Amino acid sequence: MWTPLFTLLLYACTAYGANPIDRRAVVTRYNPVRRASSPTTPMQVGNGNFAFGADITGLQTFQPWAIMSTWGWKNDSLPEGKTIQDVYDYAGITLPANDGHLVQYMFNGPAPMQQWMISNPNRVNLGAIGLIFRSQNGTVLNITESDLTSVKQELDLWTGTLTSTFKFDGIPIQVKTTSAQTVDSIGVTISSALLKTGRLGVFLDFPWNDGVLKFSDPFVGSWNNASLHTTSLQLNPSHDVGAEITHSLVDSTFVTSIGGDRFTITRDSPASHRYHIQPSKKFSDTFSFSSTWGLSRSTSVLSPSAIALSSSQGWENFWMKSGFVDIFTGSTDSRADELQRRIILSRYLMRVNEAGDFPPQESGLVNNGWYGKFHMEMYFWHAQHWALWNNWDLLLRSSSVYDRFLETSIARAQVQEGWPTGARWGKMSDPSGRSAPGQINELLIWQQPHPLVFAHYEYRAFPTQNTLRKWESVVRHTADWMATFAWFNETTGVYDVGPPMYEVAEDNVYNNTLNPAFELAYWRLGLGIAETWMENLGQSVPKSWTQVKNGLAKLPVNDGTYKVFEDVNDDFWTDPTYINDHPALAGLHGWLPPTDGLDLNISRLTTEKVWTSWNVSNLWGWDFPLLAMSAARIGEQEQAIEFLLHPLFQFDDIGMPVGGVRVPTPYFPGSGALLYAIGMMAQGWDGCNGAAPGFPKEGWNVRVEGMSAAM
Ligand SMILES: *[C@@H]1O[C@H](CO)[C@@H](O)[C@H](O)[C@H]1NC(C)=O
Ligand SMILES: *[C@@H]1O[C@H](CO)[C@@H](O)[C@H](O)[C@H]1NC(C)=O
Ligand SMILES: *[C@@H]1O[C@H](CO)[C@@H](O)[C@H](O)[C@H]1NC(C)=O
Ligand SMILES: *[C@@H]1O[C@H](CO)[C@@H](O)[C@H](O)[C@H]1NC(C)=O
Ligand SMILES: *[C@@H]1O[C@H](CO)[C@@H](O)[C@H](O)[C@H]1NC(C)=O
Ligand SMILES: *[C@@H]1O[C@H](CO)[C@@H](O)[C@H](O)[C@H]1NC(C)=O
Ligand SMILES: *[C@@H]1O[C@H](CO)[C@@H](O)[C@H](O)[C@H]1NC(C)=O
Ligand SMILES: *[C@@H]1O[C@H](CO)[C@@H](O)[C@H](O)[C@H]1NC(C)=O
Repeated sequence: MWTPLFTLLLYACTAYGANPIDRRAVVTRYNPVRRASSPTTPMQVGNGNFAFGADITGLQTFQPWAIMSTWGWKNDSLPEGKTIQDVYDYAGITLPANDGHLVQYMFNGPAPMQQWMISNPNRVNLGAIGLIFRSQNGTVLNITESDLTSVKQELDLWTGTLTSTFKFDGIPIQVKTTSAQTVDSIGVTISSALLKTGRLGVFLDFPWNDGVLKFSDPFVGSWNNASLHTTSLQLNPSHDVGAEITHSLVDSTFVTSIGGDRFTITRDSPASHRYHIQPSKKFSDTFSFSSTWGLSRSTSVLSPSAIALSSSQGWENFWMKSGFVDIFTGSTDSRADELQRRIILSRYLMRVNEAGDFPPQESGLVNNGWYGKFHMEMYFWHAQHWALWNNWDLLLRSSSVYDRFLETSIARAQVQEGWPTGARWGKMSDPSGRSAPGQINELLIWQQPHPLVFAHYEYRAFPTQNTLRKWESVVRHTADWMATFAWFNETTGVYDVGPPMYEVAEDNVYNNTLNPAFELAYWRLGLGIAETWMENLGQSVPKSWTQVKNGLAKLPVNDGTYKVFEDVNDDFWTDPTYINDHPALAGLHGWLPPTDGLDLNISRLTTEKVWTSWNVSNLWGWDFPLLAMSAARIGEQEQAIEFLLHPLFQFDDIGMPVGGVRVPTPYFPGSGALLYAIGMMAQGWDGCNGAAPGFPKEGWNVRVEGMSAAM
């Protein structure tokens, strides 16, 4: 899919360079190279729905990095004496809404059921594959990474090929690992003289997975609980598949299919789930195999060479046929190189971890956080950058989640919570659309307008009746709930937002917080998009939307700056309660475009006061791109660059977003927000002035191709 050029012209502050960017040169300049495994992050190959994390051997020989997917989930056994009916019957507490009706919220319910519903289903690590080394007499050796010499590993970003070379006993070994782009397979080619003498083999192992840990990092699953799960081996189940291993954990079953060169396979012992693959070809110094994971058996699998081809074609296509930003070539500012590195590596890692059929979890497919679940409010940061970079094929895979979750979200709003109308989007979710119990999970509201922004960007790229009709139902139900949640205050004559609710920073008392500034602005923006949507469809705009949009409370203000919410103390700027979490106030003009009624002078002072008052040492991840956008919009380009390269906003040697002070590594909302900010700063935003409006004029040569502007 390609964006019609006129939409690019319509919205952009673009400079058109004479020569196309040498994309391959810019990309491969940042090919990651390692000489030892990292204790915190794997090198990865993958396709967005599936990723394979590798240690220095290109496999999982020494470190059990995860093989994870968007589809691999399991439920633990229910708490003792409980049945599935207890899940359906779970009820939390009721709190009065502003209109007086009692709302049922899913928290403070019976503890064992509540915890089960939070930690289930959880995301599964599908297995591990590694090398087996033997001594000259054939004994299997238990070696460590320090037994290898001349170690080098390079990831070719242009083709998605991971090449690991090292020596064992002085004899060279090379492992090439790639991932198919259309199926969830890796292809591996091992080259070494050690193969000829039978001294190299491959193991396959399967861990137990459960929801005991909220965060499973760096590694997912347990290798000690063999009796809790089962595996079984089938030989030569089909023409292309030499062996198939069926892995069952409680009610979930996963199938691993091995193809490629001929091999023999044996199980180490009935008490373990470790299998040993020995290449059959004698006198050959290469062994190529494929491994495919799925929920059911694969009747045919790609050959290792077909997987390598799928990888190189898929990646070249990705790099060539989407947006591109080159801030390195021709720039004299010494910071350009590091920023370009972050851009390229983030693009790679988002494509591997975050381009699947569902919104991604914060740690992508690297390890598990929040049990592997995804957060609908974070989906903006994970995915909206795809729109600016024109990766519509990737974004459309997951953004249909709003259609898929519409029914459960209507039920949440109207059945569970008793609102007269609309759909309320959940928060901490699994592929069934169920949102986990919890105060924050139930009372956060800033995920609500997101689908309107997703729809808006899609319509900018594809301004057709099809797009309008496709999103119509989601837009309608989303806006209906926004309008019904805002309540007319007879005393003040305005529509109020909250309570009960949590604002973006999650640091307020949910039952007495009224009119948070960011959410008010976002409500205005969202309802405005919804109104325009219906107008474009030639339909009448529901009166309630317009009434609420025009009648919403004004942004709370005190002494020349906006306040986080209406009834917060005026001196919240120095209160540790309110300055240690997401600085959403700086998003009023930056992350968001100016919304109706926003006073740009007040918002500028607010932004600058956030910069000096917030406890920056406690910020993390997407906070920094958010601050960068707040600087870019008001023409403080130097400050924008400083935020993107802030010492607390780190990307490791292979571009993995470091969690920082608050969350485990990796934390991909930081990468997505970086790419969104870069898109905005390089291509511009509606109403901006000049080319690359977010970059300083001196020292930066910004070249942009195929990008779309931000709102
Ligand atoms: C886990 O159980 C829930 C019911 O609570 C069900 O909807 C879901 O499909 C199950 N998921 C898996 C992976 O078994
Ligand atoms: C085989 O080699 C290993 C290490 O090289 C050694 O420890 C072991 O004793 C040898 N076994 C036999 C049967 O020679
Ligand atoms: C292999 O060696 C490691 C440490 O080097 C040790 O922890 C582990 O138990 C050994 N495994 C076996 C099967 O001997
Ligand atoms: C899994 O194994 C670990 C380590 O041996 C143990 O602590 C844990 O209790 C086991 N889990 C279950 C559910 O038995
Ligand atoms: C109406 O607005 C006033 C002032 O903002 C506030 O104190 C009061 O709680 C609101 N009433 C309701 C029912 O929300
Ligand atoms: C607000 O919630 C807190 C904690 O749940 C509770 O102690 C307090 O009584 C509640 N206040 C009101 C006005 O409901
Ligand atoms: C904002 O400030 C500028 C310069 O101080 C002033 O000219 C302008 O009138 C102000 N705008 C508003 C809406 O107050
Ligand atoms: C700022 O954050 C740090 C943690 O990064 C914390 O130790 C400190 O107490 C915070 N300061 C304030 C004023 O909240």
